[in-house]
Amino acid sequence: MNVLVTAGPTREFLDPVRFLSNRSSGKMGYAMAEAAYQQGHDVTLISGPVALPVPSGVERVSVQSAAEMCAAVESCFPGCDVLIMVAAVADWRPVHRAKEKLKKTEMSSMLELERTTDILERVAPRKGERLLVGFAAETERMVEEAARKLNEKNLDLMVANNIAEADAGFEVETNRVLLLGRDGTTERLPLMTKTEVAARIMKWIEAKKASDCLK
Ligand code: CTP
Repeated sequence: MNVLVTAGPTREFLDPVRFLSNRSSGKMGYAMAEAAYQQGHDVTLISGPVALPVPSGVERVSVQSAAEMCAAVESCFPGCDVLIMVAAVADWRPVHRAKEKLKKTEMSSMLELERTTDILERVAPRKGERLLVGFAAETERMVEEAARKLNEKNLDLMVANNIAEADAGFEVETNRVLLLGRDGTTERLPLMTKTEVAARIMKWIEAKKASDCLK
């Protein structure tokens, strides 16, 4: 299969120096890309700025902003069989980006924000036979929020994790996730390394593709 993975945060610049972003380290997305490659798939990894090496065998496309990530996903989407959106895409960006470094007296007037494009919602109408997988990092009402996003974004699988837990979510090597399938199936995985979580998600994807082929 051709597997398209996104990872890391995006940066939404106010000026050449300052940006809005988030705590995503990219570890889960990179583990996902590596697991897909280990299973014998062709993998393209669209990555926001992170401090991680390119996994061997994986083609990496580096982007900064949500708009750049969206453009890269749109260009790779027609050729993929599976899109796995692990990236923590910024939901808001500054309306204006100053060419020169802002002075502190100018900052507050530049903090007008606008929504970025929702990448999954944008490509969902062109889904066809592809599988769409999302990740939801929540601090409260994890199951309800993940189920809402699964439906709203027309996903086949939503991977939810509670980032309020110290050993799951941002920056750490481990994760404790809940897999929510479009068909209503749920699977709660115990605490695992991100590498193990990624391998389990790949197994889910491969089983789903195999059962879709039999239909
Ligand atoms: N996502 C996306 N495009 C965006 C924002 C998010 O494709 N502009 C994807 C993420 O990569 C992830 C999924 O949507 O796979 C859920 O992301 P999340 O930030 O939890 O969802 P939001 O729709 O931003 O929900 P909310 O802000 O209401 O929690």
